[in-house]
Parts: sequence; structure tokens; C-alpha cells
Amino acid sequence: MTYILGLSAYYHDSAAALLLDGEIIAAAQEERFTRVRHDAAFPENSIQFCIRQAGISFSDIDHIVFYDKPLLKFERLLETHLATAPFGLPAFIKAMPVWLKEKLYLKKVLREELSTIGECDAADLPALLFSTHHQAHAASAYYASPYEKAAVLCLDGVGEWATTTAWLAEGKDLSPIWQINFPHSIGLLYSAFTYYTGFRVNSGEYKLMGLAPYGEAKYVDLILDNIVDVKQDGSFRLDMSFFNFASGLTMTSKKFHDLFGADPRKAESDIRQRDMDIAKSIQVVTEDIVLRLAKKLQLETGVENLCLAGGVALNCVANGRLLDENIFKNIWVQPAAGDAGGALGAAYLVWHQYLSNQKIISQQDHMQGALLGTQYSDSEIENVLSSAGAFYKKYESDDLLNVVSGYLNDEKVVGWFQGKMEFGPRALGSRSILGDPRSKDMQSIINIKIKSRESFRPFAPAVLVDELSEWFEMNVKSPYMLFVTHLKKDKCFNVDQDVKVQGLDKLKIIRSQVPSITHVDNTARVQSVSVESNPMFFRLLSKFYALTHCPILINTSFNVRGEPIVESPDDALACFMNTGMDVLAIGSFVLLKHDQPDTLMDKLDHRKTDEKRHVSAVELLPGELRRFAISTGVAVSLIFGWFFPWLADSKPDTEVMAISALWIIWGLLLPVTLRQIYKGWMLFGTMMGRFMTPLILSIIYFTLISPVGLIMRLLGNDPLHRKLDSSAESYYVISENIEPENLEKPF
Ligand SMILES: [Fe+2]
Repeated sequence: MTYILGLSAYYHDSAAALLLDGEIIAAAQEERFTRVRHDAAFPENSIQFCIRQAGISFSDIDHIVFYDKPLLKFERLLETHLATAPFGLPAFIKAMPVWLKEKLYLKKVLREELSTIGECDAADLPALLFSTHHQAHAASAYYASPYEKAAVLCLDGVGEWATTTAWLAEGKDLSPIWQINFPHSIGLLYSAFTYYTGFRVNSGEYKLMGLAPYGEAKYVDLILDNIVDVKQDGSFRLDMSFFNFASGLTMTSKKFHDLFGADPRKAESDIRQRDMDIAKSIQVVTEDIVLRLAKKLQLETGVENLCLAGGVALNCVANGRLLDENIFKNIWVQPAAGDAGGALGAAYLVWHQYLSNQKIISQQDHMQGALLGTQYSDSEIENVLSSAGAFYKKYESDDLLNVVSGYLNDEKVVGWFQGKMEFGPRALGSRSILGDPRSKDMQSIINIKIKSRESFRPFAPAVLVDELSEWFEMNVKSPYMLFVTHLKKDKCFNVDQDVKVQGLDKLKIIRSQVPSITHVDNTARVQSVSVESNPMFFRLLSKFYALTHCPILINTSFNVRGEPIVESPDDALACFMNTGMDVLAIGSFVLLKHDQPDTLMDKLDHRKTDEKRHVSAVELLPGELRRFAISTGVAVSLIFGWFFPWLADSKPDTEVMAISALWIIWGLLLPVTLRQIYKGWMLFGTMMGRFMTPLILSIIYFTLISPVGLIMRLLGNDPLHRKLDSSAESYYVISENIEPENLEKPF
């Protein structure tokens, strides 16, 4: 039996995934446990969950693998600064401290963290392996797919150097074909427009995609003529004079703003028609690039299956276009297509490439419906509910489904917490908020009263798999909600008003029999639900169908704006009580909002305060304070008691040494009394660091990085390959083959 632990961390979406003999045992994203959205911290909680789920101890793990090569990433960072100096000082000062303190020694940092979790010596850990970023994305897409042979396309912001990669996969082999490197990135291009239209980079891309159908593609030519040079084969380069992300702290440059005639929209300000038109335009450009890339890859490989991963593969509208165009016969997208999925991909690489195991082909993919996370028993849930003082009723499973489908039919909004948590950004019927899609008001009720998010954002439908093609222009399963498609014409109404209505007013039009899941262009991001993909959710949909003749439910993630999806019964109860949700169906229990006692919120608030208190109490442990007393006492004694007198040719100062000794004894005996002094010292250190670190980095930047960078460029060497070449046929770079042993190196 071989256990392989895959990790992603330190950038965004930290996660852990555990394989046993090549099959997924567990996978989870750290944000769900820490409640910090896109948490980049070491995935301690996710690892502990994986170990618990497998029923093993840490020492049973045979291989541990990290999802990218930190030293290659550092090389890219340095070369970028060489290429942009002397104009990148703020970015240099921002990026370097964390690299010099931590990321440059990632292997050591990881081993220390892992040995703490494993309660073992770092020397007893298995050798730490490192995949490349895109290799991990590609592996997560191909090895988890149902295909024996496939082309793989990875599209994201950036890994080490690669931003776009193409692969051919068969059996255990995953061979790179070509790539496009930083700074030329379709992910960063989309993020730049996300930034420009006033949304947050790395999380607002969905919003931009959702906004696109309200607009017209007025700016496509402007973008293609100025900002991005796209070749016939889909390869592209960005004109970097329009962007600031390589050398600055923002995504777009003044030249970009001048091109569009305005500064970026301020977050939370009114969304204008021009923002919608820009959203539509960049969506069209993105789709065009993705389609061209896919065509090129299909022609090159001649295979009929395509696997997709990387953050851009979460652009469900582009995925839907790919399906419609029939470039490949079959398409499979890794549901955890972002960096969390890299943890899984890296683990797969160890099993199939490093350990040379063949891929097992089956009808289903290997993701188990993406239900790979935590699960809570009825007794655990009841403990939480009763200790919080909640009022609830317990039901047998069939009765629970009857009751919940009845509430849904009555237009109640239901929090649905059942079975294993999903891996990946989508809620797929385990940690979901559900509603009746036939209701014309449900979209604005859930958007505004429950999720506190922008009114324009659409909701996705979950539909019984057998009814999929009856309601949608889709003939293939979509279990992971990763494709946007059109509603069938006979389910839509003739909407003449569309001609007159502009912008967000389009929301007011009733477009179909299921208006709450019908976007303004009559599309929907569909999840097909089968008994295999999520049995309990399938049964609920079946009950709702039997009751209403509608085989569809609104399915949106169980969270509010700015928070990760709920992980535990505690999270679910708090989210239920803090929002306008009417019903919570959690395990075998059903809670109604109007039944809950007023004291319940107070108890939940108290718990939060207690947790915070606990955190601040452990902030300064006595051991830490004792070390502070010893180190400062010894330092003062050596510097002022011995060194300075020695410089002055005097005897050691015994008074200073005695005071230092008393200070150390005080610290050892009464460490807690030093807390305030320690805090003051730390504050002083932080302020000094804030001043000194930028100063030292500025000196390095202007005396070393800038001159070397300028000389390199004078000699015609640009590591970023920024020159646009209108006569070139293609911007691809042929990828180098990656040997399995390469996993042993962090570079
Ligand atoms: Fe990535």
C-alpha cells in the first residue's frame, strides 16, 4: 500500500490531497477550515483531515510532493526585475521579504511544518518531491479523467514560467508539447480586465464572466489591435506597455486606462454599461484564444479527448463554447481546476510517473463526484445543534426529502448540508443553498438577502441527469457545473422587451419557465446530477420533480459574500442564522428559522468570542517569553557587559552582567509578566524592519539589479520576450521533456 500526500500552498488556494495506490482517499482546501478565503497558509488542517480520513498515522505516508518548483519561480521573479528595472522598485520591495524569509527555503520550511504535524524529526520524513506548476495542473486533469488517451490544455495566470501549456497523455505518460511563458498569459489578461472593471483579482473573475452577457462586444477590435497579439494558431503575446503586473503593484498601466478612456472602476461603485461592454469584449477575446488553442492542439495530436485545468478552465462560458464547437469529441475539466487541484495533480504524478504505475481506465472519472472532503455524523451534528440551543426536528431520510422538497416548493430558501464536502470551488449538492428556479424573485432574494452579493450575478441550476437534454441544449453530462449552455427554446419565452432594455434592467425580464437560473442571454451554468455523482442530492431533486414536474433546483454555494463555503455544522448553523435563509437541512435534522430562539445568536456570538480569546491567549506562550528573556539577557550581557568594555580596554562590567542575569531569572520564573515588554519590543522590531528592509532592498535594487538589467537589455537580452512580431507565425515555445526524476528537484 502506497500513500502519497500532495500539497499546494503559499500562493493562493492551499490544499492537500491523499492517494492510496493511485486512488483518491481525501482532498480539501485549507480555506474551509481556517475560514480565510483563498487561504495561502501551509495546509495543516487539510493534511490532518486527509490523515484522519484514511485512518492512518502521519508516518504511514510514503511520499510527499509539492505542486510547484519554488526556485524556478524565484528565477522568474529575479529575471522579471532584471527586465523591468529601474521601474519595479515597489514590486521588488513587496515581493522580496517573503522570498528571503521563507519561500527561498521552501523545502526547509515545508519539512519543519510537516515534522510538526507528524510529531517526528524532519530527518524521518519521506523525501520531499516537487512537480512543476503546470505539470501538476495537467496531471490533475488527465489522471483524474476517464480517458485512456487525451490532449491536455492548461491555462492559468502563471506558474514558474509557463502560463499556457499543451500536453499529450496516454496510459501513465504525460508529455509536454508546447507552452507560452510569462508575462504572456491569458489568465493575467483576464485578471487585468477584472481589475480594470473594479473586481478583485483572483476571485472577481467569475463576476466579470457573469457581467459579460449584459454587454456588447464593442471593444474586441480595440483589444486585439492594441493589447494582445493573437496568431492564427492561438498563440499570443501581450503588449506589456499596457500592463503593470510585471513591474508594479497594479494590473494595468496608464496607457491601458488612456486606451479605454477612463481610470479603473472603483470597487463597489455603480456598474456602468461600458463596464458590461468591456466584460463582454474580453470574454469574447478569451473564448477566441481558447478555441484557437484547442484547434491547434487537436490538429497536432489527432486525439478525440481533451482535458482542461488551470484557473482559466473555470471559465464555464469558454468551456461551453468549446463543447459547442465540437473540436474534440469529449471534454473533461478538472473540477478543482485552480491551484488547489495542483495538490492532487502532484500526487498523481508521483504515482504514475515517479512510481511508474499505469492509469486504470473506467467509465467514470476518478473524482468521486468531487465529494472528497469532510463529513459529519448525525451525532456530531446533533451535538452542535443542541449545545447551541437550536430547535430542530430529526427525520428518516425519505421523510426529510419530502419535507425539504415541500419547503422548496413553497419558495423557501434551504441550506443543504449533507455528506462529504466538495473539493474545488463549486458547491455540488453537499454544501449548497437551494431554491425553486420557477420563482421569478428567487434570484434577487438569494443574491441580496442571503448571499449579500451583486444583484447581476446569475445562479446555476442542478438538474436531474435524465432531464438534462429536455431542458438544456446539452447532450453530455456536466456533473461539476463547468459548462454554460442555452436553455431549450421551448422552455424560454419570447422576449420582445430585450430590444428596448439595457444593462441591469435586463434582470427584470422573465425569460423562461425557470427564470431564477436563466441568465440574461438565456444561458445557464448547468450541473447534471446522477445517482452516482451525489445520491442524496439526486433523491432530493427526484422528490422535487415528482412534486412539481420541475427537475431543476437553484444550487449555489453555502456561504455569504467574502467567506469560504461552510465546512462544519458550526459554520452551517452560523451562516444559516446570519442570513435570510428559511430552512436548514443538516444531516437528518431540519431547522426552521422562525422556530429558533433569540438566544441562539447570542450563543453563537459567544462561541466566536471564546475562540478569539483562545487565539489571543495562545499568541504569547510562556516558552516564547522565556526565550525572549534569555536571548535579550545574553545579548545585553555580551554587548554592554563584555564587548564595549573590551573595546575600551576595560574589565567586563559586572553590574550589567548581574542585571542581565536577574532579567533572565525573572523571565524564567515569571514569563507571563514580560508580555507587555515583549509586545513593545516586537513593535519596535517591526517598525525598524519596516524602515530598514525597504532601505536595504532599495540599495540592492539600484546598485545591483538595475545596472545588470540595463546592461542585459543593451546587449539585446530580454528574458520576458516582450517584442511583438507581426511577421511571426506563432509565439509558441517547444516544451522540454520532463523526466520522472525531475520531481526530486525543487528547481
Ligand atoms: Fe495555477
